[in-house]
Amino acid sequence: MIGYGTVGRGVAGLLHEHAELYTQRTGHQVQLGRVLVRDVAKARVAAAQAGDPEAATRFTDDPAEFAAAPAQVVIEVAGGLDPVDGWIRQALQAQRHVVTANKALLAARGPELFALARTHGVSLAFEASCGGGIPCVTALTAGLMGNRITGLYGILNGTCNYILTEMTQRGKSYAQALAEAKDKGYAEADETLDVSGADAGQKLAVLASLAYGVNITGDQVPCWGIDTLEQMDVAFGAELGYDVKLIASAERWPGHEPVGLSVAPCFIPRDQPLAQIHGSLNALAVEGDAVGPTLFVGAGAGQGPTASAVVGDLLNIVTGSYPAHFAGMRLTPDLHPPAEHVAEADLEGRWYLRLSAQDQPGVMAQITDALGSRGISVSALLQHPPRDGETAVPVVVTTHRATRGNVQAAADAIAGLDVITGPPVVLRIL
Ligand code: NAP
Ligand code: HSE
Repeated sequence: MIGYGTVGRGVAGLLHEHAELYTQRTGHQVQLGRVLVRDVAKARVAAAQAGDPEAATRFTDDPAEFAAAPAQVVIEVAGGLDPVDGWIRQALQAQRHVVTANKALLAARGPELFALARTHGVSLAFEASCGGGIPCVTALTAGLMGNRITGLYGILNGTCNYILTEMTQRGKSYAQALAEAKDKGYAEADETLDVSGADAGQKLAVLASLAYGVNITGDQVPCWGIDTLEQMDVAFGAELGYDVKLIASAERWPGHEPVGLSVAPCFIPRDQPLAQIHGSLNALAVEGDAVGPTLFVGAGAGQGPTASAVVGDLLNIVTGSYPAHFAGMRLTPDLHPPAEHVAEADLEGRWYLRLSAQDQPGVMAQITDALGSRGISVSALLQHPPRDGETAVPVVVTTHRATRGNVQAAADAIAGLDVITGPPVVLRIL
């Protein structure tokens, strides 16, 4: 195993605790061999604290020694692109199956790694890379294989969902909620990946590639994070009956090949199932032409849930079922052309627009004119009195269905009006 952090310790713990159970289930003894880390002393302390002092003898910081040790499967739970990419390639070339939780690597270089695994007759398993403990990769590559998928809508980042929940339900500050998410082991080593939406974008690239049989890389997903979300918008959304969630979406409209991709904070009507997903829970809503809407929910981050997915992959390799499935299924992005994309401006939906306007006659007419002249129909309007000492008032407009491009053009035109102060905020209503 490469890495002995939050996830690695969880995997080691499960293999130790459930050794007998796994032998019963697979008919094989599954043993952890060498564990590659940067800091052996730190790993030894962690192993002793976890009540697994035996594991202490397994640690090495020498990649060559690690590669030379006997193993049939390599588990990669270190993260990042390099140097782990090289170690994974080395393992595949040595005809070792690989299990990884590393969505950053898969979203950037997945096709090359999948192809390399095929060339060497082994498999690359990656359930833990998306949705933590939820078996959503298996759902897309096995259970739902009979469907043409028409939509994926996911809450795919546990850190962001935890922060949003703590801020909206418990009144905590953004900084406090983020610190707690880090403490609980949900966040990436570099938490900007979480809050910027990049981590959800990487997961969306992996899942959408499988769902639509195309090749999508993480950098092709337009991402807006929760780091720019303002408390005022969360409060106005609540007043209108919405909760805010960071939503990763990959949509394909009937009769169209291009996929519309986006990660962005969105408003969800409170009675919708995705609005009920709180804390570090993740959810993936998948719409298939035969099955209709489905929803997969579970813990999206943290030690136990992620280790559950890693060990599940490992045991399915041990039984031989995953290698056969991997060899047979033609869904991974190495086998498909790059996806055609719906341009960001052509993404359709309902929208929330928040403006800061002077409280004087004729302002509303100018705003609605900018929208109406672009064919955008207003659904609701909300205005509060100016706050103490201020002359500008916040004005919220929600629209019926329109393209993002049209709404942004209207917002830009509105921003240029004399009566408007500050840049408009545009958020999608799902
Ligand atoms: P973590 O707590 O930071 O642990 C990373 C481990 O990898 C540490 O033991 C670290 O060693 C080791 N490592 C990192 N770079 C290394 C290198 N160059 N050489 C040797 N060892 C190295 O991270 P984590 O939360 O367990 O996440 C691991 C992976 O799982 C990441 O890809 C992450 O995206 C993914 N993942 C995490 C979660 C989650 O909830 N945490 C969920 C799903 C997927 P040192 O401590 O000695 O530096
Ligand atoms: N940092 C990730 C999250 C870990 O918060 O969802 C799970 O992939």
